[in-house]
Amino acid sequence: MSATVIVGAQWGDEGKGKVIDLLSEKADMIVRYQGGNNAGHTVMIGNEQFIFHLIPSGIIRNKECILGSGVVIDPRSLIEEIHLLRSKGVSITQRNLFVSRDAHIVMPYHKLFEQLSEERKSSRIGTTRKGIGPAYVDKMARVGIKMGDLINGKILKEKLKERLKDVNSLLTRIYGKRGFKLDEILKEYMRYSRFFSDYVSDTSSIINAAIAKGKFVLFEGAQGTMLDVDFGTYPYVTSSHTIAGGACIGTGVGPTKIGKVIGVAKAYTTRVGDGPFPTELSVTKQEAIRMKGKEYGATTGRPRRCGWFDAVAVRYAARINGFDSLAITKLDVLDDLPMIKICTGYLYKNRIIRDFPTGTDEVRALKPVYEELKGWRQDITDIKNYRSLPINAKKYLKRISLLVNTRISIVSVGPRRSQTINVANSVATSATRRSGGRSDE
Ligand code: GDP
Ligand code: IMO
Ligand code: MG
Repeated sequence: MSATVIVGAQWGDEGKGKVIDLLSEKADMIVRYQGGNNAGHTVMIGNEQFIFHLIPSGIIRNKECILGSGVVIDPRSLIEEIHLLRSKGVSITQRNLFVSRDAHIVMPYHKLFEQLSEERKSSRIGTTRKGIGPAYVDKMARVGIKMGDLINGKILKEKLKERLKDVNSLLTRIYGKRGFKLDEILKEYMRYSRFFSDYVSDTSSIINAAIAKGKFVLFEGAQGTMLDVDFGTYPYVTSSHTIAGGACIGTGVGPTKIGKVIGVAKAYTTRVGDGPFPTELSVTKQEAIRMKGKEYGATTGRPRRCGWFDAVAVRYAARINGFDSLAITKLDVLDDLPMIKICTGYLYKNRIIRDFPTGTDEVRALKPVYEELKGWRQDITDIKNYRSLPINAKKYLKRISLLVNTRISIVSVGPRRSQTINVANSVATSATRRSGGRSDE
């Protein structure tokens, strides 16, 4: 199988962890290419829940797992994750975990800067406060520290000493705070230096060699398209390239080596943190979906904002990422609803628009245009094949497929592995083909 990128089609938390776990069964290698421990990817094995923040979910199946150069790594958080997973019986060694020497590290001052900047802002982003944004700022400003520097104590000391000059002057003069002490950070980070010395390597070489040998490599996206730093609802985004193109940038693999892109979308929409969200339901109406879908952040525990499926946003994601197919998750969460809405366009300045505008003011000003479909009011969590789904559930999926102009290859009806419907040759697929690949709006 060709190298495949799995990418979130909405504002994150689409169920990427579950889909990656399913596909990992046949994969040889799973690679994270961006983001950091702001991500929370959940995998349910029986009744046991695993939440991955940095380590690719494929580690559960003892596959080769890679943290690419585009990831930012909080070493303390990564060590905690390794220990937690080991305590649950997952084997993690230098033979199945490889960390890019070029991945930048999150330092204590990144977390502090993020907190201070969020507190000062009149309109917060509502970040996860893991120091991700400031770590990427340092990377772009060319003052960051990489994993390769971390494992070389001498370089770590030199770079940190230099960086702390600016960091401490900002903290004391602008923010009126105490500065960081070189020795204190060094003491802590030298422990991480020893821990990671056996894990850090040239991961671009490892991934390219695997692809050259015909191995099946999966790229695990974090966050979602609408949180991409360029194509999301800026500035209410994360600081990395979450889209499929980010898989090349964040790993050192050329675009010609990528074979397939699968978008993951929930059957409705959620967003955690601040920023525009056109199909968001009123506070009271969100509650039913939040309760049934257990919509609370896997990283921060914050309640996720909930709304109807936004076909305009997901069609935009299909364009930006070039989806080959869609995995639709959490269809079961809509089981009890008598009526379900899909957003097919937006009303903006007395006109209907069908393309997602990324300007925050525009997105805030538009009104979604909905189409209503009848619900199926039936428990679908035990259904194993597409044919057995209630007719109204199939109509809903077909409508999504047509509006997004992408075939649906996977439907998820519960958090467990077994609660998955493979729809490789489904009616939804042929419906998309019949329309000539067009949306029928
Ligand atoms: P990710 O960040 O995209 O990996 O998604 P999260 O793990 O943050 O959030 C998805 C949540 O939905 C997790 O709690 C999953 O266990 C759960 N989940 C995934 N697929 C389904 C599904 O089809 N139905 C239900 N009810 N839950 C699901
Ligand atoms: P996964 O991979 C949902 C959101 C934050 C905030 C914005 C910026 O589990 O889908 P950051 O800390 O990244 O600077 O915060 O992005 N955010 C996510 N929302 N799922 C995620 O990851 C997210 N990672 C960051 O809530 O709005
Ligand atoms: Mg998540």
